[in-house]
Amino acid sequence: MASTLIFSLVALISIITVPSSMSSPKASVKGFEVRLIHRDSPASPLYNPRATRADLIKSSGRRTIARQNYFNWLMSNKTWSRYSSSYVWAPIDQSPGDYIMRFKVGTPEVETFGVFDTGSHLTWLQCEPCEQCFSQTITIYNPASSQSYEKAMCGSVVCNTASGARCPNPKGECKYEINYMDGSFTEGDVATETITLEDDGLSGSISLQNIIIGCGHSNVDTTAGYPAPGIVGLSRQPSSLVSQIPLHRVSYCIPSKYKGNHSSVRFGSAAVIKEEETQTSLLSGQYGLYQLSLEGISIDGTLLNISRSVFDMTGDRGGVFMDSATTFTLLAFDAFIEFKLGMMNALSDFKPVTDVDGLFPLCYDYHSGFRLDITPEIVFHFTGLDFPLGDENTWIMNSEGNLCLAMGLNEGSSDYTIFGMYQQQNVNVGYDLDNNIVSLKYGDCE
Ligand SMILES: *[C@@H]1O[C@H](CO)[C@@H](O)[C@H](O)[C@H]1NC(C)=O
Ligand SMILES: *[C@@H]1O[C@H](CO)[C@@H](O)[C@H](O)[C@H]1NC(C)=O
Repeated sequence: MASTLIFSLVALISIITVPSSMSSPKASVKGFEVRLIHRDSPASPLYNPRATRADLIKSSGRRTIARQNYFNWLMSNKTWSRYSSSYVWAPIDQSPGDYIMRFKVGTPEVETFGVFDTGSHLTWLQCEPCEQCFSQTITIYNPASSQSYEKAMCGSVVCNTASGARCPNPKGECKYEINYMDGSFTEGDVATETITLEDDGLSGSISLQNIIIGCGHSNVDTTAGYPAPGIVGLSRQPSSLVSQIPLHRVSYCIPSKYKGNHSSVRFGSAAVIKEEETQTSLLSGQYGLYQLSLEGISIDGTLLNISRSVFDMTGDRGGVFMDSATTFTLLAFDAFIEFKLGMMNALSDFKPVTDVDGLFPLCYDYHSGFRLDITPEIVFHFTGLDFPLGDENTWIMNSEGNLCLAMGLNEGSSDYTIFGMYQQQNVNVGYDLDNNIVSLKYGDCE
């Protein structure tokens, strides 16, 4: 009886081996699906039943601001380090992202979770021994107990592939460092390890071997409360999890809280990439992010007077990119000024009120007759794709009950625009990485 059970469990486990040479990865799995959990939902290991709506809105706003700091660091070609004088300390929450992904790490497997982050190049987690670690809700991972853990050495393919890697001693162990520019950072060893994902569709496990990770022995997170133990890096850089799984299609769908609770990310043949009418091109940029070509924004059919160059990805400009760990869309300066003005003009029958939470740029009093069905239609014009924003992707009720525009100014830099998760709710986002296509389609997340 016991042996039959073990046999059937083993049969359910599929293995993808990623050779450390990264030459010709073989996949015995064609596709799989992993559930995503909203960090503030009861199913989340970070759920705080005492948090009020105001607390939750404020912390997602702080995470959005912290995110700007992270991207500024990323785009600074890593010349800022926590040891250098240009490093800025500002006490705000780092722990980015609204969605977390559970996974298992090591042999034998240990359960953990990390932030679902399409803007990060490396999956990392806090590791023993801790030089300094922040508090987390589960036991800190101890790689010494894992048979599949292997530190990377300087000069190795793994070390040369890992984003943020550095070699203080060229003949020594490969280290990494990621800074969040707000006092939060992670530092540790670059290593390879087995990562096991639970397939939501097949109720089996997918075991990914020799995955490049960061094992963080020195980690600071300025978040009040418990941050996630780490991050699942899903950018387009070679050391991200997406690039190491040799299935070049990814999709995710996050329902708004009024439309169900099945959020997931799908890989390979399980990924949902919708028809041509919903597609626009995915640009290949130096930052390895999911960059799109945005041509303009219109309000009620009138194109805003925003120069195309504001959205261009040229030279060291970041352009426009999708990010799973930024809550609210942040517009580059010139775009934000025109957009806010355009919205105020379209809603000139109403008088804006100040946001009590101090986060949103434009709010209207719910008691003044302001209703969602009289708000103007906003369309993002991507190349070949006009993408209208739904009301629930545009407006948010603040803690005073007023309706606010759920977008903001990218204060960190006027050079790029981040398309955040609030604007991606109820949208199936599908990436075909071989053909550089992204599809954005409204619908129920199934
Ligand atoms: C999803 O919602 C259904 C009912 O709406 C509920 O029964 C189920 O437990 C929820 N699942 C999760 C993971 O929250
Ligand atoms: C659009 O903006 C540019 C630069 O700010 C300005 O010179 C031009 O007059 C504007 N055009 C319209 C129609 O407002």
